[in-house]
Amino acid sequence: MFYAGGVNTVELSSKKITDLKPDALVLGVATVDGQAVPFAGPAVGRALDKACAQTIRALQIKAAPEVCQTVLVEGLESPVTFVGVGEDPDPETLRRAVGAAVRSLAGREHVVLALPTGSAEEVGALAEGALLGSYAFAQYTSWDAAPVERVSILTPLASESDAKAAAERAGILATAVNRARDLVNMAPNDLFPETFADFAEQAAKAGKGGKVKVSVLDEQALADGGYGGILAVGMGSARKPRLVKLEYAPRKADTHVALVGKGITFDSGGLSLKPAKGMETMKCDMGGAAAVLNTVLAAAELKLPVRVTGWLALAENMPGGGAQRPGDVITMYDGTTVEVLNTDAEGRLVMADALARAVEDQPDALLDVATLTGAAVVALGERTAAVLGEEQLRSDVLAAADAAGEALWPLPLPDHLDETLKSPIADLKNIGERMGGTLTAGLFLRHFVGNTRWAHLDIAGPAFHEGAPYGYTLKGATGFGVRTLVGLLENQ
Ligand code: BES
Ligand code: ZN
Ligand code: ZN
Repeated sequence: MFYAGGVNTVELSSKKITDLKPDALVLGVATVDGQAVPFAGPAVGRALDKACAQTIRALQIKAAPEVCQTVLVEGLESPVTFVGVGEDPDPETLRRAVGAAVRSLAGREHVVLALPTGSAEEVGALAEGALLGSYAFAQYTSWDAAPVERVSILTPLASESDAKAAAERAGILATAVNRARDLVNMAPNDLFPETFADFAEQAAKAGKGGKVKVSVLDEQALADGGYGGILAVGMGSARKPRLVKLEYAPRKADTHVALVGKGITFDSGGLSLKPAKGMETMKCDMGGAAAVLNTVLAAAELKLPVRVTGWLALAENMPGGGAQRPGDVITMYDGTTVEVLNTDAEGRLVMADALARAVEDQPDALLDVATLTGAAVVALGERTAAVLGEEQLRSDVLAAADAAGEALWPLPLPDHLDETLKSPIADLKNIGERMGGTLTAGLFLRHFVGNTRWAHLDIAGPAFHEGAPYGYTLKGATGFGVRTLVGLLENQ
């Protein structure tokens, strides 16, 4: 099994702050009536709360969200990290604040969180922030990133079942997100379609919850099945393509959701080669497949009462001698012919096959996740993903994203742009009008979903974070999509 960095569980404790001697204590600083004041749970006690207020005043510690300062407070042995939470923080502000605090404490082993927890939801938010913020990818480094190894949350709710459930859910979610991060961070010489499929099999076997069945179509099976899109994209690489099916089918389910993920383990552009700069982060082009795999695994671990079928469309897009050419006409899984004019618009080709196969099972809803277009990054920036498709499903996705703290925004599928996908010699061509490239890509996919309720998530922006870390987001893979999709399945 590959490396999985970070902590997997938090412990809830109802002890007093002075009963513990961790390597650091995390407290919040909030703005109340324009003043920076301690944001601390009852475990801190009156006297210490006063000492903290004094320290905040004396050192002019700021309440701006995510700003961290580690200091000594009279009456406490452990150093205290004050993290700003602003005014009246919502769960996502808490997640990010705790993520920032835990990140700033790398190198210390045991960290205790003493922020207030008014509800099980807030316990979950603190736990998620800590677990996501403590992630480190150390597969290839000879130095030790030494992330925080143990997190405890001081809360009066420690023995309540809904708080315990929230902490457990946070552990399962964070494990799934961090495993998705691992897959995306893996170098593309190590993670390619075959090894990705192996990983899926091993991870499903190791899962502690409900059973996830994994079946893998190799290149021969893909050829026999007529998966012309996946095969065409994979032809230019020595690493052969795969289509992985994941099935979680609990007995009590009456809803069936299908998930399809784009799994281009490296996107060179193919013969329509990308410029060198544009290729640097293209190992992230399987972020959709990583999200789908880990959503299915999390759904099983959480024993959600919904049937979930996941599809991972895995290929490496390379310009080798066998590569598809601009001008090739290919026949997709559903029989549609496509004139391939740009081999860098490969995502829609592998997705089209997987979508067409997914609808054969007649799911109640179909969602796909793909790092599909650079245009989505231009439109919405690097932190926001686009969601397109059927209106009700789109709003369900947006509601789940909002609760999860993932940024998604709706985009339309205007019919007039569909005209631009017409080819003079085939049913479709794989590129249309350049303006609104995210919309034409979505329209292309729509040709393959029939009457199934469908929504498409373009995560090209947020799948991979190149800037400085913030909140619980580190440099590199983000695991974007997992928390929204799990939330969506929970709401079914
Ligand atoms: N994998 C890319 C999209 C992408 C860009 C993902 C930036 C993450 C960050 C995709 O396969 C691609 O190259 N799309 C082309 C489509 C175009 C040729 C119609 C694009 O967006 O330029
Ligand atoms: Zn591409
Ligand atoms: Zn791509």
